[in-house]
Amino acid sequence: MRHEINKETEKELFFHNYARLPLAVTHGEGVYLFSSDGTRYLDMISGIGVNALGYDDKRIVEAITRQAKKIIHASNLFMLEPQFRLAEKLLDISGMSKVFFANSGAEAVEAAIKLSRKWASLSGNNDKREVLSLSNCFHGRTYGAMSLTAKAAYTDGFEPLLPATGSIGFNDIDDLEAKISDTTAAVFIEFVQGEGGVHRISPGFVNSLKRLREKHNFLLVADEIQAGCGRTGKFFSYMHFDLSPDLVCLAKPLGGGLPLSAVIGGEKVMDVFTAGNHGTTFGGNPVACAAGLALIDAIYDDNLMERAAGTGEWIQAALQKLASKHRQILEIRQYGLMIGTTVNREASYYVQEALKKQVLINATSKNVIRLLPPLTTTLEEAQQCIDCLDEIFTEET
Ligand SMILES: Cc1ncc(COP(=O)(O)O)c(C=O)c1O
Repeated sequence: MRHEINKETEKELFFHNYARLPLAVTHGEGVYLFSSDGTRYLDMISGIGVNALGYDDKRIVEAITRQAKKIIHASNLFMLEPQFRLAEKLLDISGMSKVFFANSGAEAVEAAIKLSRKWASLSGNNDKREVLSLSNCFHGRTYGAMSLTAKAAYTDGFEPLLPATGSIGFNDIDDLEAKISDTTAAVFIEFVQGEGGVHRISPGFVNSLKRLREKHNFLLVADEIQAGCGRTGKFFSYMHFDLSPDLVCLAKPLGGGLPLSAVIGGEKVMDVFTAGNHGTTFGGNPVACAAGLALIDAIYDDNLMERAAGTGEWIQAALQKLASKHRQILEIRQYGLMIGTTVNREASYYVQEALKKQVLINATSKNVIRLLPPLTTTLEEAQQCIDCLDEIFTEET
């Protein structure tokens, strides 16, 4: 039986784990997404931060096509050139030592947890096992990643979680001092929290982390899955601080829209994994790696990091103007093209209203409107989004 594509049939066919918008999409062009009835939507979410170049970037399409004609899959039993070239690029950008490729953000986080525990087990301290994260964080939904995410909304009903995990208060230096010890194996950090509502780590917290790492020798893991690949104006969001992480997790835009993630590791961890310790059938798929290479070239060739910083500041100024006339806006937080606006009611209301005006925005952390537009977004396109929000706030009052 062939089903219509709508919310009713979606309920019939799939587990109920997604709250999808009532929109059947067919294709995309630049920053626009098209629905099956031909309506054009301005997309300020870009596939939850994945489509950094918009929807139909020719370079990505060509790279995928070229590689697909050569070989689509061979597995990690073999060596594949696109993996080598992408690894070189990531090591060059990060100045780190080794790469592991997987398929999704959560898988990168799992690999980083395993690497951290194995590294700790080699340290000679048998009690060094604890993997910590920050309150309000999001690291994914597999067991290890979910245990670090540690928010009831994600964990309720799924206990018991991974043992020896714990949470430090976000930007709470006293709590950090209290929780870190010689039993700490790793601390996972989003330098800009995404799902948590777009909040940035404070420089004071980063300095304390660095000092404590010297004293207690743990791994600092930067989760760059949402904030990485240029979105905040630098390739990695940790680069806004004077600090070198020991491990970096990347995903979302890395495969140019295809599933691809990476863990990049520094000298401390370069010899931790041995053959068979970890792996995945699809990780580092050559077509996804070829798309990733095209993505990174485009980011540098088109100065997209500078552009993200500039467009982000423009949007922030425009939102500030809206805030001066609409009481619904409580706070604006902007780091390149990661933009969170706290509003005085559930942000999902604005998502629904914007949808009626053919603009796609996102709600996170209950009352935060989140924008994650492509790095290629023009000021005219950004203006359309601002005009739409202005209209909604005006109609509401
Ligand atoms: C910071 C961060 N870490 C991890 C993840 C999990 O990635 P994935 O959904 O690809 O498993 C996400 C996804 O939103 C994320 O934003």
